[in-house]
Amino acid sequence: MDKQARHILDTALDQISEWKESYGAWDQHPALSVSQEKAEHVFNELAGRLKGNFPFHHPVYAGQMLKPPHPLTWAAYAMAMTINPNNHALDGGPPSSEMEKEAVAELARFFGYGDEFLGHLTASGTIANLEALWIARESHPKKKIAFSENAHYTHERMCSVLQVEGTKIPVRENGDFDLDAINPQEIGTVVVTLGTTGLGEVEPLQQVLLWAREHGIRIHIDAAYGGFFRALKDADLAEETAWNLMEEADSIVVDPHKHGLQPYGCGCVLFKDPAVGKFYKHDSPYTYFTSEDLHLGEISLECSRAGATAVAFWATLQLFPLKESEGFGPILRSCLTAAKEMFEKIGTSKKLKAYKYPELDILGYFPSEATTTAEISEKVKAVFNVGMRERTFYLSLYRVPATSFKRLHPEYEINSEDVTILRSVFMKPEQQNFVETLLHRIETHL
Ligand SMILES: Cc1ncc(COP(=O)(O)O)c(C=O)c1O
Repeated sequence: MDKQARHILDTALDQISEWKESYGAWDQHPALSVSQEKAEHVFNELAGRLKGNFPFHHPVYAGQMLKPPHPLTWAAYAMAMTINPNNHALDGGPPSSEMEKEAVAELARFFGYGDEFLGHLTASGTIANLEALWIARESHPKKKIAFSENAHYTHERMCSVLQVEGTKIPVRENGDFDLDAINPQEIGTVVVTLGTTGLGEVEPLQQVLLWAREHGIRIHIDAAYGGFFRALKDADLAEETAWNLMEEADSIVVDPHKHGLQPYGCGCVLFKDPAVGKFYKHDSPYTYFTSEDLHLGEISLECSRAGATAVAFWATLQLFPLKESEGFGPILRSCLTAAKEMFEKIGTSKKLKAYKYPELDILGYFPSEATTTAEISEKVKAVFNVGMRERTFYLSLYRVPATSFKRLHPEYEINSEDVTILRSVFMKPEQQNFVETLLHRIETHL
């Protein structure tokens, strides 16, 4: 599959070499040279060691949120890395900085923000959320940041880093936030997750939005995982209003290194109001902001950032537009369908039961032939291990409080605090055609 990428990369690298040589002939310093034998030896060892990974690229891997970037994406990344531009100051990489601005503007448009916004790529969803929560704190210095009990743990941790009080909102059985449990007067910003890390739940943005507006509370959307699914807002996800309301939020985080086909090191934070740029203002004797144009380092907490990240993401967006009918739409539709088909097939299984209906492409399920929660956890761990040992399927484990489990599955006796269930993240479109095989392989071990 990556034959095309290798060929394209080869040709593109020739063009880059020509450009490099256009400055005049020069030789690499002898101190940097390595013998062919030594290079081959090290790379052989590398190949051997890297095979110690789980098969993230293959449909058998339906475990964590892991998948390799698109081959053309890594080709673009590798090409830019031979130059290694730095997207801090414009001067560190003029073309890659432009590409970052263009790609981020495309994301902002995709989420419904207008042309006036502030945003940039980050190293990860964690750093993007840190910036969003930092702006939340600066905007309402004496108030708390609220997030649901299903939010990524980073929000609680970042509140601690930022020395701002965080508060957890309980979630009701129907997925709504129990807003009666918190005092709106104390809250400055509320976090809504579109695509929770555990089970890909879409939190009730519509409910929270009405409440937040009434009380002058800012909204931050953590769409690190789910953001790209907005491509399906008018089709497969048309009944879920949250996707159509994203533009109402004050800030949005999305991770191109999750569903955006990018290698790790690519998160993104967007702010609806560009005036928050005032919080980023800094002055230093060693930063070389030489022109009046926007230098991304002026609106980012991180200093040096790989220009290659922006180049790869920009190239990906040219190849795969953020549309429902082409580019990202069909890719995400297959992922969504894989989870829904797995849910339906499990519905007729004698050995497995789905934990709940999947809103996105993450499904929780467990062996049904058990009577107690402890027995379920035990069977789950056994089947999880056997798949990895035999290299026939790779799943992940997800722990739910027994009380939440009981609400959905009252027929099981509770004899443990938590229940461990199986979890599958169907991030690869190829998995749509693998669901039946996967299910069969799991069932044979139950
Ligand atoms: C909803 C959500 N937010 C934040 C994060 C953290 O992102 P990262 O792993 O890119 O730092 C994740 C990661 O899984 C996530 O799913």
